[in-house]
This record gives sequence, structure tokens and C-alpha cells, in this order.
Amino acid sequence: MKSHPKELILILDFGSQYTQLITRRVREVGVYSEIRPFNTPIEDIRRLNPKGIILSGGPASVYDESAPLPDLHLFELNMPILGVCYGMQVVAYHFGGKVSGAAKREYGLARLHIEKQNGLFKNVNQDSQVWMSHGDALVELPDGFEILGQTRNSLYAALANRDRQIYSLQFHPEVVHTVEGVRILSNFLFEICNCQGLWTPESFVESTVREVKQRVGTAKAICGLSGGVDSSVAVALVSEALGEQLTCVFVDTGLLRKNERLQVEKTFEKYFQSNFVAVDAKAEFLKRLSGITDPEQKRKFVGNLFIDLFEKEAKKISGVEYLVQGTLYPDVIESVSTKGPSQTIKTHHNVGGLPKRMNLKLIEPLRELFKDEVRKVGKELGLPKEILRRHPFPGPGLAVRVLGAVTEERLAILKEVDWIFIEELKSSGHYDRVWQAFAVLLPVKTVGVMGDQRTYENVVALRAVTSLDGMTADWAKLPYELLETVSNRIINEVHGVNRVVYDISSKPPSTIEWE
Ligand code: XMP
Repeated sequence: MKSHPKELILILDFGSQYTQLITRRVREVGVYSEIRPFNTPIEDIRRLNPKGIILSGGPASVYDESAPLPDLHLFELNMPILGVCYGMQVVAYHFGGKVSGAAKREYGLARLHIEKQNGLFKNVNQDSQVWMSHGDALVELPDGFEILGQTRNSLYAALANRDRQIYSLQFHPEVVHTVEGVRILSNFLFEICNCQGLWTPESFVESTVREVKQRVGTAKAICGLSGGVDSSVAVALVSEALGEQLTCVFVDTGLLRKNERLQVEKTFEKYFQSNFVAVDAKAEFLKRLSGITDPEQKRKFVGNLFIDLFEKEAKKISGVEYLVQGTLYPDVIESVSTKGPSQTIKTHHNVGGLPKRMNLKLIEPLRELFKDEVRKVGKELGLPKEILRRHPFPGPGLAVRVLGAVTEERLAILKEVDWIFIEELKSSGHYDRVWQAFAVLLPVKTVGVMGDQRTYENVVALRAVTSLDGMTADWAKLPYELLETVSNRIINEVHGVNRVVYDISSKPPSTIEWE
């Protein structure tokens, strides 16, 4: 397990929906932070040697029989600790305070009053808005602690034991509704933990390139290149470290957007110094998908064939020991979910099984990063905006956007429709304002009239959503004029389409992709 060598803030996760947000806020002000499960053993914490620890919120009550509690030696480490919400109750409970479910619950906005504008509250207004979300509350101060701040309903909204450097907050400093939240977190990092703010895209690139070089030595590595943000940035980093020791394999499935292959080839030539192999597998994918209409089957067939082809290509290169993957931090964080495993909604196409099958070691240069950090690193590496602002694209590609049977003709129609939609989004400035946009070809025909002729042709749906992480999404309120232009262009320019509809469903209950 790798830890960032310079300064680390450890976030112990007690199950709050905001835990990732704390981590992001800390990183946004330049301090590297990592999430670990609440019960991380003290030996591991010592080994990681953080500058400070934040205990996240969580849904439990400290008096529950199965209440999540940290390794209590934590409090003897003599290290700055900040408890947030449930994290505060963990601190209070440990030091003999009293927590009660009968006290006043608070959900929503409150006014925080502080006495002294120093330490944790340096430069924070004496009266400011905070966000509360708690059922249990503290009703008796723990030994050795003093009150730093109060709200109308919480006498103990902020506490400290300055001798032990232990602080706690009943409210959530990580959410935007807590107006001075970033300042409070920054004070914890810079005033109390004495961090310096060493986490920058530049330092990340420098240390990652160095580490990859050291680890791989003179061995060879391969990477699948899709043209998406993650794989492009991963390749850019590893290419910088390994140059021609790296070979990138691009599998042209025929399920990509119009002109995608050309763009990937051009980008590669311009920005990377490694080897590039393109595999033309359009015919094979079409054959494998022939007659398949079930979405899960499509996903599996595309995924499996991709892996087969990739493996075949990789075996042609002698002496490959490493596989580069663009895994991101949200995929790595160990979940502390108390509910059972979640149901499979869609089988994601990825190459997760490959390393074992091919006996390869993994290089995952982005496994510590959130998506927005990947973009910053890409910028630092000089990648152009067209790559960095690219919308996510599903592994199974257009196979899950041509609903029903996938044929060459139907793929061709969809590619033209999608191209027009994206072109208009870009030229109107809306492309960067949405998380993702695309067209879907429906397996329905409708009647229309063109000139004086009756038509009986395909319907396409346009989908554009806003989202922070793809987990939830809202349909984008694109201007009617833009939709009108797109619809007119599609019907005029794409043969075989006589109707355009716009998808106005959010996720949940719908998903972003239709299949
Ligand atoms: P859904 O449709 O589940 O999609 O709401 C959420 C996000 O994931 C993308 N997506 C995929 N990404 N492999 C991927 O790498 C896949 O198989 C896959 N399927 C969906 C989707 O485009 C959206 O951004």
C-alpha cells in the first residue's frame, strides 16, 4: 500500500455520505488526504504517519450495541484529531461526555456563535451559517474540553481539548452550506496540524513519474487506450515515465462515436512518446452482437470480446510485465456500508480480470485521484481541453445506445445523429455545462410527413444530464432553441430518422444510459 510521502491527513470513515467530501475539501486546499475504514488498526495509522486525523460523520448512535468505534489507542497518539458530527460524539463518548438521542435534533441551517477568533476559528466570523444534520446530541461536556462555539439548539456545537489537540464539531464543515467551512478545515490543517500544503498537480506528476520509473525499471508495460479522460491521463503519466517501454493498444470496436479512432490516433501522435497499436475489430464486434437485444448480454459480449482481443494483441509484444489502468480513487475506497452488497444494475465493462489472466502486475497511476484532480493533472501534463473536458463514454459504447439489435446500418444512423447533437452543444457552449450528452436510437418506427410524402422511420432520443459524479443526475434544461436546431438538423441531415425526442428523466429512478 502506498501512502503519499510528504503530508497526509487521514479520514476515518464512519459511514457518512459526506466522507468523500471531507477528503476533497482537504485536498482542494493542498493537503493530501485518504479515507480509511473507521476501525483501521493503530499500527496501520502509525505506519501511515499522518499529520492529523479527521473522524467523519455517520448514521449510527454511539450507544448502539454495534456502534462503529475506532481503535481507541488513537486518542493516545498525541496527534491532532478533528471529530465531525458522529465523529464528535465518538470523541465526547470516549472522554466521558454524555450523548443523548432525546436531545434536540437538528437538520438544516443554524447560526454558529464563537467567542474567540483563533486556532480552529482563526479569521472566522463570530456569527456564521453552518449546516447541521444529527439526531443524537451532546448534553454533557467531556472531561478536559471547553466550548468553542454554540448554536441556538446546540450548546456544544464546537469543542476543544487544546492540550491534547483534539477538536470536534457538531456541524458539517465540508458542505457548502457551512459558509466558513473551508476556512475552519484549513485552520485545522494549517494552524493545528502544521501542514504546508504540498499537494499540487505538479508535485503529483513529479512523484508519480519518479515512482513508476523506479518500479518498472527496464521492463515493458501495456495499456488500453479508449480516448477518454482517465485512460489518456494515465497514458500521459506513464508515457512520461517509460517512453517506448510502453505500448498502447487501441481496439476499434466500431461502437465508438463518429471519427473517434481518428481523434485518438491524432492525439497519440501529438502528445505521447510511446508505441501505439490499433486493432480493427469492427467486423468481429458486429458479428458477436448479431441478433442480441438483451442489454446485459450486449454488455457481457462486448466486454469479453474486448478482453480477448486485448490479450491477443498484448501477447504479440514480448516481455510485457505491467498493465496500466486508469482506476480512480472512488473505485478504491473501502466501503463501510452496513447494508448488504448492492444489486447489479448494469455490468460495467472493464478489464479488471485481465491482470490475473495474463499474469501482469498493475500500474494504476490515478488510483489516488478524484475525477477533477485527474483533469488538473492532465492539464499539468499539457493535454488539450478537448480531451480533458470530454464527457464519460460507456465501455460497451454505442451497443447500449442502439436499443434492440445492433446492425451496421443502425450504428451508422446513430453516429450521425450523435455527431450533430454534440457539434451543436459545443458550438453553443453547452457541452461544458453538462456532465454527459448523447443520442439513443430507439427500436420503434413512427409515421411522419416529409414534403408530401408519408414516411415511416426511426425515432431518436437525445439525452443530456447534469451530475457531479454520475451516481445521481438531473436532466439538463437545455434551451428550447438549441433543441429545435438540433432536431431540425437531425431530421434534415440524417436519412432514416423522422422524429426526435428529449429525455426528461432524472437518475434515480432512471439511469443515465438507456441500457
Ligand atoms: P448509468 O447508466 O449506470 O451510468 O446511470 C452512469 C455512468 O457510467 C457510465 N457507464 C459506463 N462506464 N463502463 C464504463 O466505464 C460501462 O460499462 C458503463 N456503463 C455506463 C455512463 O455513461 C454514465 O456516465
